[in-house]
Amino acid sequence: MKELELQKAFMLIEPGPVTMITTSHEGKHNIMTISWTMVMDFTPRFALCTGSWNYSYEALVESGECVIGIATADLVDTILDVGTTTGRETDKFARFGLTPLPASQISAPLIKECYVNIECRVADHIKQHDIFVLDGVKAWINESHKDKRILHARGDGTFIADGEIFERRKRMGDKLPPGV
Ligand SMILES: Cc1cc2nc3c(=O)[nH]c(=O)nc-3n(C[C@H](O)[C@H](O)[C@H](O)COP(=O)(O)O)c2cc1C
Repeated sequence: MKELELQKAFMLIEPGPVTMITTSHEGKHNIMTISWTMVMDFTPRFALCTGSWNYSYEALVESGECVIGIATADLVDTILDVGTTTGRETDKFARFGLTPLPASQISAPLIKECYVNIECRVADHIKQHDIFVLDGVKAWINESHKDKRILHARGDGTFIADGEIFERRKRMGDKLPPGV
């Protein structure tokens, strides 16, 4: 084996789904792009990593709520727009042609253009690393969404969309939770 530059190691772990995270704070909706996410339990419990330089951070801390919108390949340029602009003075929904829809359990909005939206409440904030632990409380899927390929960031400004599916359901056996 050849040595891999250590600073590139994160690129092999990064490609979870690219998400658009909505928040609502002081009467204002906002969205940011996050690719540093992780599943923590089937319940469902998730984690995401962000920091105080983002305008969404304060909203997340103060409101204790957010929506995880799952981005698909058709949204590649939108996730870049949303993730390279701050919502401090801009309404990113209006500017980037996204439609906020009311969620059922929380005040942060769903994104109509997303294939899946998961309403979440913050269960914990691990301040040392700015990890937010989220409990999913309601989830929505748009089955008529044309492009269902989930988008993955590779960490170097390139992206991949879902490709080949390997079906191994039998071999996974009781490692699969009920209902999936
Ligand atoms: C592809 C992509 C992935 C990103 N992933 C993260 C991330 O995991 N965590 C984070 O804090 N910021 C991430 N960002 C940057 C934020 O989305 C960006 O700072 C955004 O402008 C914050 O918006 P806000 O100031 O309105 O909250 C990402 C941006 C892009 C384009």
